[in-house]
Order: sequence, then structure tokens, then C-alpha cells
Amino acid sequence: MEYITLNDGNKIPAIGFGVFMIPNDGPTYEAVLEALKAGYRHIDTATAYFNEEDVGKAIKDSKIPREEIFITSKLWLSQYGYENAKKGIERSLKKLDTDYIDLYLLHQPYGDVEGAWKALEEAKEEGKIKSIGVSNMTVNIWNKFIPDFKIMPAVNQVEYNPFSQQKELKGLLDKSNVKLEAWYPLGHGNNELLNNEIITKIGEKYNKNAGQIILRFEVQEGVITLPKSTNPERIKSNLDIFDFELTDEEMNSIRALDTGTTTHNPEAPGVAENLLNAFTIED
Ligand code: A2P
Repeated sequence: MEYITLNDGNKIPAIGFGVFMIPNDGPTYEAVLEALKAGYRHIDTATAYFNEEDVGKAIKDSKIPREEIFITSKLWLSQYGYENAKKGIERSLKKLDTDYIDLYLLHQPYGDVEGAWKALEEAKEEGKIKSIGVSNMTVNIWNKFIPDFKIMPAVNQVEYNPFSQQKELKGLLDKSNVKLEAWYPLGHGNNELLNNEIITKIGEKYNKNAGQIILRFEVQEGVITLPKSTNPERIKSNLDIFDFELTDEEMNSIRALDTGTTTHNPEAPGVAENLLNAFTIED
């Protein structure tokens, strides 16, 4: 496993196991146990995934020491604002059944972002959260909020894969040593991406599948990548990317696949309202 040092000095495994859309009460528990067995030491969940409990249980039952596992979770919009956010952090700690969370993110950049961020800053100072970050911030949204933050986010977790390389945003983040984290790193199973000829051809050379080439590309770009799978074989193979290295030429050929677009545009009309009204988190 490779580790990346964040701008606050904490270390994060370059690959994390994503559990978006895996149900609680069993499936997430099984998947996380499988991932830990395969060697993952970084789990990426969220309040709004409604499976923090299963993540916590699997970590406990794995018998792997807590400090060897990096846990990320995220605050949902209905918990924004300073006071609500403080409660939201406590709720995540309780659901995950842990004394601290390694990385906690503002899941979406709408509503009282400033108040919520202040609560995250304080929780970091208190040691309840080791590192804090944001998610789904475009260049415009980043420039709107970040100048007023006391602590620079350690990461910005956004949609990222060879078709959506976020080049402008990545350049901006690089300047402040903020790491880009990739959601949908495999294009959410996008067949066009997974069957792309350039990618599969490179795979033949290294005897790796397309998923492995894509994830290796992302890690070599310095991106923290969060593949999700419930299939034990794919859970394992997605981590098996540290025994080869793509050449500059191969990296450039994958860089050229960028479409300059994403499937989710956080600035599109109605997106903020839809998400703000989507659901609320019960205590
Ligand atoms: P499955 O759970 O059956 O493995 P993303 O992480 O970009 O959201 O992609 C997740 C989707 O891609 C899931 O549907 C997952 O299905 C599938 N997937 C995960 N790993 C691979 C892989 N190595 N090759 C092809 N599909 C994959």
C-alpha cells in the first residue's frame, strides 16, 4: 500500500474502499470485511450513505488495530450550520463506534458551509477528527468559500476518472497542496471506459485488467482513488496495482482521453436546491 502525506502532515492510503450505495445491515459489513482481508486500510463512507454502522462493525470484527485503518466519513447538508454540524460529527463518531475519524468532509458545497466548516475546524483541534476536507467543489465554488476558511481543506473529493480528469481544478488544488480524491474512479462501471481500447491495450502489456490500469493511472497522477465493488474478486484486483508502473507515454495516452466534462455538475441550475431538499438525517 502506498501512502500520501496530506497538507496537515497526516498520512492517507492512496487507495480507499468506497461503500456508496452498498446497504447497511449486512452488505456493507461483508464488503468492508472482504476489503480489509484483501489489504485495504482506508474506508470511505458518509452519513448520507446510511452505512456507517456496518463500517464500524466490520472494522471492530476484523480485529485490525483501529490506528491501522483510515476512516473517512462526511457530513450531510441537513446537518450544516455550526451547531448542527457539531451534532452531526458526534452522530458519525457514535455510528462508526470510534473515538476519532481520520478524515471528515463537507459532503456538498451548499447551505451554511461556513458554519459547518467552523465545527469541523474545532473538531480537528479537539482531536475528534484528524483531517478535514470538502467534496464536490468546482473551481468557482472553491474560490467562493476557501478564502474565508481558517484551515485549508486537506482534500476535495470530486468525480474523477480518465474521461473526467478535472484538469483546471487539479491545477488549482495542487497550488495549495490539497489532494484530489476520486469518486466514480471507474466511471461507476462505465463500459465505454472499461472497454476503452487504449486502456485495454496497456492492460495486455502488464497482464492487468482495465480497472487496474485506470486505478494505477489515478494513483500515478497523485489522486487518492476510491473504487467501490461488492465482488470479492474485483475488490482484490482493484488493490493489486502496486507491482507495475505506467510509462510517461502511457500516462500521456490516458491523459488524452479526458473529455473535459463530468456526469455531475455541482453548478448546474437546480442541483443545490434538489440536494438541499433531498432528505434529512435523523439524530
Ligand atoms: P461490482 O460491485 O459488481 O464490482 P465506481 O467505483 O467508479 O463507482 O465503480 C463501481 C462500479 O464498477 C460498480 O458497479 C462495480 O461493480 C464496478 N466495478 C468495480 N471494480 C471493477 C473493475 N475492476 N472492473 C469492472 N467493473 C468494476
